[in-house]
Amino acid sequence: MAFNVLLYTSLFVFISGVIYKIYTWFSWEIGISSRDIDRSERLSAAFKGMLEVIFSAKILILIKVFILDVVFQKRILKEDFLRWAMHMLIYTGFMLLLLMHALDEHITASLFSEYYSTLNPFFFLRNFFSMMVIAGLTIAIYRRFILKVPRLKTNSMDYYAIIILTVIMISGFFLEATKITSISDFERMVEEFSDVDEKKDINALESLWVHAFGVVSPDLKEPFEEKLLEYGREIHEINCASCHSSPKWAFTGYALANILNPIALRLDRAKGSKILWYIHILACFFGLAYLPFSKMFHIIAGPISLLANAVMEKDKPDPANIATRQVMELDACTHCGTCSLGCSAATAFDALDNENILPSEKMVSLKSLIAGKKMSPEELKAIQEGVCLCTNCDRCTVVCPVGINLKELWLNVREDLIQKGYPEPLLLSPFSFVRGLNRYDIPADEYYKPVNAAKQAVAGKFDSLIKQSPLILQGAGIEEFNQLAKDNTFSYCFSCQNCTSVCPVVCSFDKPEETLGLLPHQIMRCLGLGLIEMASGASMIWDCLTCYQCQEHCPQNVNVTDLFFGLKNLAIKNVKKA
Ligand code: HEC
Ligand code: SF4
Ligand code: SF4
Ligand code: SF4
Ligand code: SF4
Repeated sequence: MAFNVLLYTSLFVFISGVIYKIYTWFSWEIGISSRDIDRSERLSAAFKGMLEVIFSAKILILIKVFILDVVFQKRILKEDFLRWAMHMLIYTGFMLLLLMHALDEHITASLFSEYYSTLNPFFFLRNFFSMMVIAGLTIAIYRRFILKVPRLKTNSMDYYAIIILTVIMISGFFLEATKITSISDFERMVEEFSDVDEKKDINALESLWVHAFGVVSPDLKEPFEEKLLEYGREIHEINCASCHSSPKWAFTGYALANILNPIALRLDRAKGSKILWYIHILACFFGLAYLPFSKMFHIIAGPISLLANAVMEKDKPDPANIATRQVMELDACTHCGTCSLGCSAATAFDALDNENILPSEKMVSLKSLIAGKKMSPEELKAIQEGVCLCTNCDRCTVVCPVGINLKELWLNVREDLIQKGYPEPLLLSPFSFVRGLNRYDIPADEYYKPVNAAKQAVAGKFDSLIKQSPLILQGAGIEEFNQLAKDNTFSYCFSCQNCTSVCPVVCSFDKPEETLGLLPHQIMRCLGLGLIEMASGASMIWDCLTCYQCQEHCPQNVNVTDLFFGLKNLAIKNVKKA
């Protein structure tokens, strides 16, 4: 009764959770690309997409991806054998246990008419599958806490997943062990399944079970006479053998039973197996009910993400389906850290200590952000810095074992955050090259709004560094300067800093920025951003020796020294005018 109430409650929570999650896939919005697409559009696009796949040759891709990537986890194998072994052991072991053991009444018993949980091969297999999970969990703990795989972070969800699985497995072993040793279980069985009621017969049977089946009896102790055991064996053959293989086949349970032997009687009196049964069952039901809200939900979302990414047309997928897929991908992420391992922006993480630079951690923050969790300005700024430092190199996408299109996600979220967030000076750096390339997908005013905000932020940051020179250009227009600088070579500058490193003036100061205001490469970037007043305010241009080293060393043929001349001439012209 209590069992059924618990079972149905947890099943109810599980199913409601899954339905809620699927609802969020179609209604949550990530970034500007999902604006203006409503829920019904997304739902019908998904149905249309699914039908198209099922009734076309794409179904073959689906089958291939299902076998290679979902069942055999080829993507993980390619990255890391140990991680693959861990995943296969936990996943396969747990699934087999679920089918053979947890659902035995419905599956195993209907497949095998002779099924009893205490009979081989089931008795042995239950232990074998459990050991697979335990081996997998051991590798997981080893990788996270001993091997300390670089960039693999462990958060509360990872702890939860490891702990719940461990509790389920360990309580299962202890339950089996206490049952094996339990004298009250033995007595119950004798009463239920045998017509043995004479004291002498029961004694013989009990002796055999103490001798060979691990039962711990309060009265009977080894050694037993061979004749007694032989008689017990006869009774056993008639009454019990059809359902009981030797418990030695349950190798972990039996080994543990031997260890528990000294306290077995006390355990039995305290109804140890009942308590362990409750712990085991409650842990399983809790795991089931909480699954849709935990990292374990990836066992459902992961395969769907893999399949969806495999069949969605690479060139022009329906924007409504992209919007849906991107929310789903957040659920599919297992926080495995593979993406962060090769991330080309990860070196910035070592210097800035902002976890959001690592793609696997950005996924965690994005989940909270998209779910509408209230975030402090600092948290938002950290996420924004993370997405702006991304170089769009796509290395995360190609390695993600659940096939998440991470780069696309970053571009989308970046755009959204810079639209409503803080002016991010990095937006003006070569890091945002891809945003520039994609600018035609964004309405012009939306494209320039954050760029202008970032420009102002940069100007503000450097203002104090620049000496208030009377020769600062007064209202110099970009056109006037461009005319002077004719071919605009500064716009080819990609901030390699060669010019600054070779400059003899720069290298003669300990803190050149303080004395010179802006350094040659910074002046070129300023010009590129149209911050001409700022550039001309740097005393660097007046301290320049005109040695032409910078200009000769520039790989982009920027006329650094000539541009300095131009700035100086313009400033002098302006002063004369005044
Ligand atoms: C119809 C099949 C069947 C018969 C016959 C049967 N058992 Fe069992 N027995 C089971 C099953 C199934 C379990 C495990 C589930 C449970 O505890 O009810 C079990 C459990 C036990 C346990 C607890 C240890 C464990 O591994 O779970 C003992 C002890 C036991 N039986 C003794 C006996 C004895 C002694 C006999 C013969 C008098 C006997 N059984 C006859 C099916 C049977
Ligand atoms: S995005 Fe992919 S690779 Fe990165 S942590 Fe999530 S599942 Fe792993
Ligand atoms: S695309 Fe961005 S997040 Fe992904 S690996 Fe490259 S730099 Fe890192
Ligand atoms: S020309 Fe001026 S700025 Fe360029 S290297 Fe020489 S001193 Fe430095
Ligand atoms: S050397 Fe050329 S490309 Fe490099 S920072 Fe200087 S001006 Fe820019």
